Amino acid sequence: MSTLGQFGTPMTEQQYAEHWGKSSTKHVHDGDYAWLLDQLPASTNVLEVGSGSGESTLALVRAGKKVLALELNAHCIEETVRKLSDKGVRVRMLPIDALAPMSLDEVEVIIVQADILDIRIDTHLRQVAVDTIVCWFIGVAPSRAAMLAKKQAEALTQVDLENYRHAVHKRCGDLGRSLLVDGTFIHIADRGGFGNGGTETLARSEALEQYENLLRRPYIVTVRQIAFRPMGLAPTDSKMTYVAPSFVTGVPLVISVLAKKSESDHQPGSPITVTTRAANIPLTDVPKVGRDQKCPCGSGKKYKKCHGQSTNN
Ligand SMILES: C[S@@+](CC[C@H](N)C(=O)[O-])C[C@H]1O[C@@H](n2cnc3c(N)ncnc32)[C@H](O)[C@@H]1O
Repeated sequence: MSTLGQFGTPMTEQQYAEHWGKSSTKHVHDGDYAWLLDQLPASTNVLEVGSGSGESTLALVRAGKKVLALELNAHCIEETVRKLSDKGVRVRMLPIDALAPMSLDEVEVIIVQADILDIRIDTHLRQVAVDTIVCWFIGVAPSRAAMLAKKQAEALTQVDLENYRHAVHKRCGDLGRSLLVDGTFIHIADRGGFGNGGTETLARSEALEQYENLLRRPYIVTVRQIAFRPMGLAPTDSKMTYVAPSFVTGVPLVISVLAKKSESDHQPGSPITVTTRAANIPLTDVPKVGRDQKCPCGSGKKYKKCHGQSTNN
């Protein structure tokens, strides 16, 4: 499965921008951004975390949103500005301390070079009113992930990279606490999949637990707000990793998680009313786990004694 690439392949920022350019083009062709937009409730001003090569930003603009994009990588910013300008989108690059309440009035996209994990940016971000935070496919900034894991980039493991993505997702939640008003959303897209023997139900409940723990109050995430889409293989000419090696024999997925900020309605498991389709494309070809096999949740118990209990008779 060489097309899946390698975890932790250290890249320069320029190589990262180049390879993500290829991967994001594939996501466009596969319809992944269009599908993600379908999961997103009505919104006007979006804070986008990580613009990459600008394909996601372009998708948001085409859906009628204004975007304040934060991006760490100067090469990605260059590519985003170039791509958007070529398509006639009004885009402006601003230093973070130049953000002002009217910044999005004159343009469709503002792009700021900043690290989302740097809490010093918060006061500046509060200048611009946003009603959604979007964090699609954050992937990894190798140098930043190395800093977080206190390791050399070459030594990063699959777990370090996952921890990095989750640190960014958690940070989106923290930012939303001060930036978002009640009733608005954080939308996270990640890549994942089923390991050998996994099931859609199990993957859904794992994602639910994971994001409830990462985001916490006042966010509400329910199973209805978690959607899966089968994902195509990474383009062969991109070094970007798409899915963990454990999913190679399983089903790679795009995972969409919508979390509602809800101070008033914080009942775990209570349904959220949203205007999105939140459609789950039926997943076929999901490998089945045998009743006497170990449960894929990692408990060490047999499936029939663990998550497979409800199917036993
Ligand atoms: C895999 S790309 C995805 C880009 C885009 N959201 C998309 O879906 O096409 C992730 C982007 O997030 C950026 N990024 C990663 N960590 C970041 C951080 N801490 N702060 C700002 N940007 C970050 C990377 O530089 C990269 O361009």
